[in-house]
Amino acid sequence: MEHGYHVAIVGATGAVGLELLSILEERKFPVAQLSLLASKRSAGRRLVFAGEEFPVQELTEGSFQRVHFALFSVSSSISKAFGPIATRAGAVVIDDSSAFRMDPDVPLVVTEVNPHALRRHHGIIAHPNCSTIPLVMVLNPLHRRARVKRIVAATYQSVSGAGARAMEELDQQTRALIASEPAEVRVFPHQIAFNCLPHIDAFGEMGYTGEEWKMVRETHKILEDDSIRMSATTVRVPVFRCHSEAVNIETEQKITPHEVRQLLTTAPGVVVIDEPEKSQYPMPLTVAGRDEVFIGRIREDPSHDRAINLWLVADNLRKGAALNMVQIMELLSAENGR
Ligand SMILES: NC(=O)c1ccc[n+]([C@@H]2O[C@H](COP(=O)([O-])OP(=O)(O)OC[C@H]3O[C@@H](n4cnc5c(N)ncnc54)[C@H](OP(=O)(O)O)[C@@H]3O)[C@@H](O)[C@H]2O)c1
Repeated sequence: MEHGYHVAIVGATGAVGLELLSILEERKFPVAQLSLLASKRSAGRRLVFAGEEFPVQELTEGSFQRVHFALFSVSSSISKAFGPIATRAGAVVIDDSSAFRMDPDVPLVVTEVNPHALRRHHGIIAHPNCSTIPLVMVLNPLHRRARVKRIVAATYQSVSGAGARAMEELDQQTRALIASEPAEVRVFPHQIAFNCLPHIDAFGEMGYTGEEWKMVRETHKILEDDSIRMSATTVRVPVFRCHSEAVNIETEQKITPHEVRQLLTTAPGVVVIDEPEKSQYPMPLTVAGRDEVFIGRIREDPSHDRAINLWLVADNLRKGAALNMVQIMELLSAENGR
């Protein structure tokens, strides 16, 4: 194609799919043709891109003819079924489900951390979990400087991380409870409004959830270091947008909070807001809609000689999802020279 690419969005009507549309437009990615794909339920719906309406089509085996990039944002079972069909039709697949993340033949990429991994792709590139992405963006510079030995993380994850229906559920439950009506529970295992759920994904090995193991295994793969010891507790909180994390990082060499602040201030895609005396630190409300990972509360761990505590916040729908996918596509298209 002379003036751009044929881009397909699989899951275009979802929380991430809609964000992909606005980021493609904002960043002026050269889209020559756009295919918006979703389930049969959404076929015929129209979505706006760059001031023009595009019809949503049902995803079928024939959806990928002459597609250059297929951005998949659907369940892992749909990605597993249709990802290989898209690559066989000649498309490069960028998939944000967990379907291919741990496949040794599939690169798992955060554009600021391991863009080199893209060189090894065979048609499918995996996009990490929305809690792993901001974490590795912070860990990477610290690991290069002082070698990270161990991480203990607790997350505070927004409902948009569970998709469009989960956002509706928080909205409806909040309205119902304020009107003294009962809250209906459909998406989450319990009421999420005015509550916190220490339960994201299914419980598994050693009593940890799938989400918690994803953070550990994906961190190892992206930083290319399985020796980092790590455990996580992932918690859903009644926030619409942005995941926050409280992270304890033990390093091999001692590193001071001042050095951490300096390293993170120059790290790509990272912004430090750390003036606690002025009540300045990152929060979901101020980070929503922003592209960078925001860090604050950087301080020594008084219980350990070589450990740092910090707080991070990132927009899960942007850097945690759609933005990183578009950035991967930008890197690939720059290599292509088109
Ligand atoms: N939300 C995040 O922050 C985030 C971050 C990183 C990764 N992810 C991953 O991204 C994926 C999508 O997440 P989301 O939050 O955008 O979910 P979502 O809001 O629930 O959207 C799901 C999308 O999948 C489509 N879909 C459902 N069944 C389908 C079918 N049979 N055929 C074709 N399309 C179908 C839906 O289309 P209909 O409208 O027609 O049902 C919708 O467009 C998940 O794998 C999730 O783990 C999400």
